[in-house]
Amino acid sequence: MKTVIITGASDGLGKAVAKLLLDKGMRVVNISRSKCDLNGAENIACDLSNQEDLDRAVQTIKEKYSDFDVLINNAAIVGYAPINEIDYAKFEKTWKVNTIAPLYLISKLFDLIVENAADVINIGTTHSQHAHPGAENQLAYCASKYGLRGGSYNISMELKKTKARLVHVYMGGFQSKMHEKDYGNVMTDPENWMKPSDLADIILYIINLPKQIEISEITINRKGRRG
Ligand SMILES: NC(=O)c1ccc[n+]([C@@H]2O[C@H](COP(=O)([O-])OP(=O)(O)OC[C@H]3O[C@@H](n4cnc5c(N)ncnc54)[C@H](OP(=O)(O)O)[C@@H]3O)[C@@H](O)[C@H]2O)c1
Repeated sequence: MKTVIITGASDGLGKAVAKLLLDKGMRVVNISRSKCDLNGAENIACDLSNQEDLDRAVQTIKEKYSDFDVLINNAAIVGYAPINEIDYAKFEKTWKVNTIAPLYLISKLFDLIVENAADVINIGTTHSQHAHPGAENQLAYCASKYGLRGGSYNISMELKKTKARLVHVYMGGFQSKMHEKDYGNVMTDPENWMKPSDLADIILYIINLPKQIEISEITINRKGRRG
């Protein structure tokens, strides 16, 4: 039975991935502020923007889940604001959650990742490949996700020397409340966006790839979209 540690599985894509992995008999450990309420999910309460919380989460992983097979860095926030209005606090929070937290988690768990020959999946965005229309007022989000992308490259350089793998996923738009929660933008046309459950199937496929195959980066986008 695989043990999968995933950030941000209380909602959205993370929750859809957690559901599928639990259905497949895997052990799923969620890291977020509120609980993943799925039957069987285990939770580590953590505000990813807070270093003490992060250190406590790392300690819990080392004590209870040190044999983990997969780490999925999925949690993120938008930090929506026009370029000429964004304040320091919003920049800082967005970078802490989207960039520092996932890279810090990998850093603190790096020795276990190598020892366990674990898979790391960093959920990025197509907005860290190009400047797309639709990303207006998402300066902190786009820049922080470019930061995550850069971190994935740097860490991959080391992990390629080991049996562990890192996949950086450039994700396109899917049905979620991420934008609604951040700045009240309600999705009115869900049928035009990808379904989290379909994306979860792809994540499961990646996790189950034979160990002699390594996907370093993958772009998953809505049909017809650039990315
Ligand atoms: N939605 C899209 O169209 C889209 C497109 C491309 C890429 N993505 C990426 O896909 C991933 C998942 O997005 P989503 O749409 O599923 O988001 P979501 O539904 O808003 O869920 C975000 C998750 O992150 C957690 N989170 C947020 N802030 C946190 C904090 N400070 N500490 C701990 N956990 C925190 C939330 O849990 P709590 O609130 O309980 O803490 C929640 O479980 C993100 O990396 C996002 O950038 C999304």
